[in-house]
Amino acid sequence: MTQKPAKGLAAKIGDKLDFAKSLISQPKTLGAIAPSSARMAKIMASVINVESGLPVLELGPGTGVITKAILDTGISADKVYSVEYDSCFLAGLNRRYPGVNFLQGDAFRISQIAKELGIEQFDCVISALPLLNFSPAQRLKLVKNALKLIGNERPMVQFSYGRRPPVPARPKYFSVVHMDSVFRNIPPARIWTYQRSGT
Ligand SMILES: C[S@@+](CC[C@H](N)C(=O)[O-])C[C@H]1O[C@@H](n2cnc3c(N)ncnc32)[C@H](O)[C@@H]1O
Repeated sequence: MTQKPAKGLAAKIGDKLDFAKSLISQPKTLGAIAPSSARMAKIMASVINVESGLPVLELGPGTGVITKAILDTGISADKVYSVEYDSCFLAGLNRRYPGVNFLQGDAFRISQIAKELGIEQFDCVISALPLLNFSPAQRLKLVKNALKLIGNERPMVQFSYGRRPPVPARPKYFSVVHMDSVFRNIPPARIWTYQRSGT
């Protein structure tokens, strides 16, 4: 009886330490001052269509708040692929979410990563990458490449701390829609969905 809360507390402290280590060593890569809120994670994961049977691609899991929300949709852990750059987070992620395919790598290489995995199509892409810390050209390339890995009417979900989408719409190629705002996130964030323009 007394063990469960203790485990939860240890995990929370471990997450905070991992986050603090990353904040000190890689502030630009982390791009946040606190882990994402559970509410934001739940909204982002709500786009998953578990019935599709397709895997889901997560980018920048960090402490795994969004990974948890993804698993809470009922998708099996082996269908979740998650690319994290910072090695600080990987041991904790693997320990807390066994079965999830955590890959240490650069999410800006997702086309090559998917090719190496032999996966042509994901159900959707859920990204917590700090896009505003990258150049507009890098951001645009990332969105275009992410959308190539999912079906025409499926979304890439991205949160961002700015008022505007981190990558503006390119009507010829893709649209962007404001899905929600989460004011209780630290800092408050907006959630955007990207979708390929009709063919
Ligand atoms: C805003 S934080 C995400 C916070 C996370 N949702 C949480 O609650 O802990 C951004 C995450 O993206 C990761 N990241 C940044 N650049 C990356 C890249 N090029 N490839 C993969 N992950 C990256 C960071 O290491 C960090 O874990």
